[in-house]
Amino acid sequence: MIITGKYPQLRLRRNRKREWSRRLTSENNLSVNDLILPIFIIDGKNKKIPIKSMPGVYRYTLDKLNSVVQSAINLGIPMIALFPFTKNHIRNSLGTESLNPNNLICKACRQIKKKFKYKIGIMCDVALDPYTSHGHDGIYNNNDVENDETIKILVDQSLNQALAGCDVLAPSDMMDGRVGKIRKALDVNGFKHVQILSYAVKYASGYYGPFREAVGSKNFLKGNKKTYQMDFKNSDEALREVALDIKEGADMVIIKPGLPYLDIIQKIKTNFKIPVIAYQVSGEYSMITNSIQKNIFKKDVIIETLISFKRSGANAIITYFADRIAKEL
Ligand code: PBG
Repeated sequence: MIITGKYPQLRLRRNRKREWSRRLTSENNLSVNDLILPIFIIDGKNKKIPIKSMPGVYRYTLDKLNSVVQSAINLGIPMIALFPFTKNHIRNSLGTESLNPNNLICKACRQIKKKFKYKIGIMCDVALDPYTSHGHDGIYNNNDVENDETIKILVDQSLNQALAGCDVLAPSDMMDGRVGKIRKALDVNGFKHVQILSYAVKYASGYYGPFREAVGSKNFLKGNKKTYQMDFKNSDEALREVALDIKEGADMVIIKPGLPYLDIIQKIKTNFKIPVIAYQVSGEYSMITNSIQKNIFKKDVIIETLISFKRSGANAIITYFADRIAKEL
């Protein structure tokens, strides 16, 4: 800590007095390069369906997707994250739709790659929950998810999505050892350039509710995800998770949720010099939007939360506000 001088010679308010001076001395800034936009997709034609618990967020059919992606490109957003809504009759206990080369995600990847090439990155989750009849991220037996059997499917899901043109695979399942197995499979199958953005630190959180509505798993989910997602009482464990995923070949890591876990973001960034992505999740989005609708908050509050991620050490933020905030920057 360097402290030079004292009041009245030293007046910290001097640097704050003018707008130009505040700009000049700002330590952190938010740019469009920091934003990752999640997009929900749904089967059908010519539809833009509102998500009740996430006012301002929609599910798009594929014929509407290109214009959403085009406007993200126009805004300069570097990457989108695709999430599928899956109808009940397509779900089963093993989530086999995840392996269908013509599933919604794969069709979307091919369509976007064909039209936009490498103008924007495409990130896809690796996990079975959008496709399972029980809403869990893997094979569910005796009130638990089987680790090693699940990984086998996740590896195939990864290859399926890579083949369709996904640039960044994001395992969000929290199985032990999946990053290494996915990396190996990608490398031997000609996808050595496909990146892995591991959801290394994903807490079993109450903030995921609106997302589960958005992808249609809310009514299916049996029990909770506490045997695989992390206990929010822990932070040493977050370091171990990240260390493990880096060893297994993760290119970047996600910390999730965002705002209640700024301490974790800071710890990870100071301990591991690796790109860190904060996920401002659906429940955080809903809370802020509801407050804005009730006129408690202003839009500035969104930017304040996003800057807090930067301050804590995040390189980028996955946020449902990405498109609207990009317009403000
Ligand atoms: C799927 C997944 C979830 C989220 C991202 N990927 C939900 C969950 O694990 O239940 C949550 C995202 C959000 O709440 O915005 N594994």
